[in-house]
Amino acid sequence: MARIAIIGGGSMGEALLAGLLRSGRQVKDLVVSERMPDRAKYLAETYSVQVAAVGDAAEHANFVVIAVKPTDVEQILDEVAEAAAKAESDSAEQVFVSVAAGVPTSLFEAKLPAGSPVVRVMPNTPALVGAGISALAKGRFVTPEQLKGVADLFDCVGGVLTVAETQMDAVTAVSGSGPAYFFLMVEAMVDAGVAAGLSRPVATDLVVQTMAGSAAMLLDRLDNARRPDADGAVPAGVDTTAAQLRATVTSPGGTTAAGLRELERGGLRATVADAVFAAKTRSEQLGITTE
Ligand SMILES: NC(=O)c1ccc[n+]([C@@H]2O[C@H](COP(=O)([O-])OP(=O)(O)OC[C@H]3O[C@@H](n4cnc5c(N)ncnc54)[C@H](OP(=O)(O)O)[C@@H]3O)[C@@H](O)[C@H]2O)c1
Repeated sequence: MARIAIIGGGSMGEALLAGLLRSGRQVKDLVVSERMPDRAKYLAETYSVQVAAVGDAAEHANFVVIAVKPTDVEQILDEVAEAAAKAESDSAEQVFVSVAAGVPTSLFEAKLPAGSPVVRVMPNTPALVGAGISALAKGRFVTPEQLKGVADLFDCVGGVLTVAETQMDAVTAVSGSGPAYFFLMVEAMVDAGVAAGLSRPVATDLVVQTMAGSAAMLLDRLDNARRPDADGAVPAGVDTTAAQLRATVTSPGGTTAAGLRELERGGLRATVADAVFAAKTRSEQLGITTE
């Protein structure tokens, strides 16, 4: 079984560690490097996982996952590169994976031994409960098998898809920042429910379950549509887009139509588009400073 080193045992490192164990990986195949002693102790006690220095953890791993803050990447890269050079001289195959937002694969490729395979991943916070979505972008030297190996790792904390690295800023703006947009929407709907006469706990339960249920319904329809039936055709007559599902719950002259008209009048679509573009621009600016 592949040996996995997680460098950085913060919230994302822990989410990955927990997910890997949950999906059946053995504790003997995992090692974590975490510089905060209290945090390292917590991880060792909670997951019975081995905690090691960066170089030791990286040297003997097939997958080296870098999960430190973007500003700490440069600092750990020298140690990782040294370990990678030793592993290379032992002919061990290594794949380097970074979840650090905004740090390009080219930075890793420049520091690691020539030709090192590097995969950049943008997960999101729902990964902490195994319900994230991770976008993978491969560097110059990654084989399809190596990319599949990384996809298998992130599969344990939610969905996985692959994009070109040039799309990572757009991914960051949509799924990276997306949970915050969602939480703001929940906050606004709960407050509105309270204004409409509901108690806060009741409004909260109603809003959160409505959001979760609607997302589950949409996911179910999308899955159905993507699964061809026995004849190889997409099942007919099934609403598969958000727009179709919205139309289905909007009866003519009804309550939902009245509510939706106000959302459109308030410019919801344009505001969401502005938010995504602003986040993408900010992600581009941060990437430039990191480089
Ligand atoms: N959390 C998310 O939802 C999310 C989503 C997408 C991407 N990411 C990316 O994932 C990365 C990690 O995020 P996070 O939220 O898990 O951050 P975090 O909580 O700060 O975790 C990073 C951990 O790595 C430790 N560390 C730093 N340098 C180290 C070193 N030289 N050796 C060993 N351990 C070291 C840090 O210790 P100190 O506390 O002492 O610094 C910290 O405990 C970031 O690059 C972020 O961009 C996170």
